[in-house]
Amino acid sequence: AHLLKGVKYLSGSGISKVPEKYILPAQERPMRREAEPDPLKLIALPLLDFSELQGPNNDAALKSLSDACQDYGFFQLVNHGIPEEVTKGIVEVSKEFFEMPFEERSKYMSSDMYSPVRYGTSFNQSKDKVFCWRDFLKLTCQPMEEVLPHWPSSPPHMRRELAASYAKAAKNLSIALTGAIFRGLEIDQVEEHGAMIEEFKAGSQLMVMNCYPQCPQPDLTLGMPPHSDYGFLTLLLQDQVEGLQIQHRDEWVMVQPVPNALVINVGDHLEIFSNGRYKSVLHRVLANSTQHRVSVASIHTLSSNRTIRPSPSLVDDANPPRYKDTDFASFLDYVSSREPKNKDFLESRK
Ligand code: SIN
Ligand code: FE2
Repeated sequence: AHLLKGVKYLSGSGISKVPEKYILPAQERPMRREAEPDPLKLIALPLLDFSELQGPNNDAALKSLSDACQDYGFFQLVNHGIPEEVTKGIVEVSKEFFEMPFEERSKYMSSDMYSPVRYGTSFNQSKDKVFCWRDFLKLTCQPMEEVLPHWPSSPPHMRRELAASYAKAAKNLSIALTGAIFRGLEIDQVEEHGAMIEEFKAGSQLMVMNCYPQCPQPDLTLGMPPHSDYGFLTLLLQDQVEGLQIQHRDEWVMVQPVPNALVINVGDHLEIFSNGRYKSVLHRVLANSTQHRVSVASIHTLSSNRTIRPSPSLVDDANPPRYKDTDFASFLDYVSSREPKNKDFLESRK
């Protein structure tokens, strides 16, 4: 049961070996040189400039956006307009939260999937056979006025307002990016899609603060197992410590952090919406023996009363739908019960 105290606690207790519960079967371990000749290969993701996506004559920028979503499922975004004090602040707030004594953090533990505040460890601590080297705090962000009073009030410098201002800025950015994605797909003039963007404003948003403390045996475990994100778009802030790997051309490659950039990725819903043109790519996080890493993911989902399906504007005789229509509740049931890296259900809709 002490494992439920999480990895920040374990790491702080001065262990020199990871407990059995964290040891992956040999084939699932990272940094297996026999399988991956260059297991720490770095990749500079496509780098997009938000101001160019927004500006006039933005055809070239929209083309780069579309290419990135197609070829990588990931890109980095600079000039995104979120002030540095807010991005730096939210990373600091996350660090401070995980630095509090376990007793303080544990007040926010909840096994209720719908609780607006959930503190926990591993990927899914009630299901994982092997634990991963990660503690997290999940904050529901919508509707903000209702959820904010439930967010952690300690330590006093948790600075709820700062967390809220980052969440709001991420939300606005995700809406603007969705607009750009629709323009890149040349479907922005379709009435239904205008309506979708309006609904997106009320769509759900989950902010996940991740803590990956120093790990004595990073080769035996993972900070986060391979998974795809279920939503439409994810915006990720990472501090400058490497750790995020994505699957690209059948290889795991490490995303090279870019100062002041956000990492953006396509989620399962956008893959389906684009009829498979854009890819929701598997990614994972490596543990690290020397540096403590923190990240803040903001996961954006479209309105819950829409059928999850390929955009009718992207489907014709030459491009038949590759995914079956699914109602939102069944989709959420599926993504919350699957093995993290399992996308079979998605594929089988072809
Ligand atoms: C995630 O996949 O949600 C987190 C990735 C990271 O911590 O870099
Ligand atoms: Fe993710």
